[in-house]
Amino acid sequence: MKGKLASALQYTKHFVTTGAISETSREVEIEICNRLDLKGKVFVEFGMGLGNITKEILDRMPADAKLYSFEVNEDFCDKVKEEIKDKRLIIINDGAENISKYVSEEVDSMVSSMPFTFFSKEKTDLILGASKEILKSGGHFSQILYSKIHFKKFSAAWDDCEMIKTNNFPAGFIYHCSKH
Ligand SMILES: C[S@@+](CC[C@H](N)C(=O)[O-])C[C@H]1O[C@@H](n2cnc3c(N)ncnc32)[C@H](O)[C@@H]1O
Repeated sequence: MKGKLASALQYTKHFVTTGAISETSREVEIEICNRLDLKGKVFVEFGMGLGNITKEILDRMPADAKLYSFEVNEDFCDKVKEEIKDKRLIIINDGAENISKYVSEEVDSMVSSMPFTFFSKEKTDLILGASKEILKSGGHFSQILYSKIHFKKFSAAWDDCEMIKTNNFPAGFIYHCSKH
């Protein structure tokens, strides 16, 4: 409980960039990782925060795979570096919009908990476009959002998009998007 409270304080303090007052629930951590390619070699996470979903991805991915986790908040990056000692994890203290500077290989699976609600249309289009370009055919981009209003936008950006409602309060919606 102490950990959850500490992370809630951190997310609230940085509300403008986190768009959240606490970390995502266990239910979200599990559902958002349900479409990961468990035989994949390259994974990408956007909005690592304090690393709760990061740990779930690392638990599921192969021993010889790597995970690029993007996070704009330097304090969060430092905290996760201290807490998660895993050679497969590459922490990038930069925005998802700059993915092409850091990742040149084809990506097997992508997971994001970034607050797209706060992003401009240009930034959203840039991130979704760059993600689709780098993701392999048949790969998934899974995103947690707290509203259904983004569904049209995500459906237009991807070849397929399915929305799953979680049982939290307030309810979260996981968008499982894929590239054909
Ligand atoms: C809602 S929090 C989610 C944190 C954690 N992954 C979780 O599930 O609880 C969103 C995170 O996205 C980060 N973020 C915001 N804009 C970003 C960007 N352009 N690129 C990468 N991370 C970003 C925030 O700093 C914050 O840590």
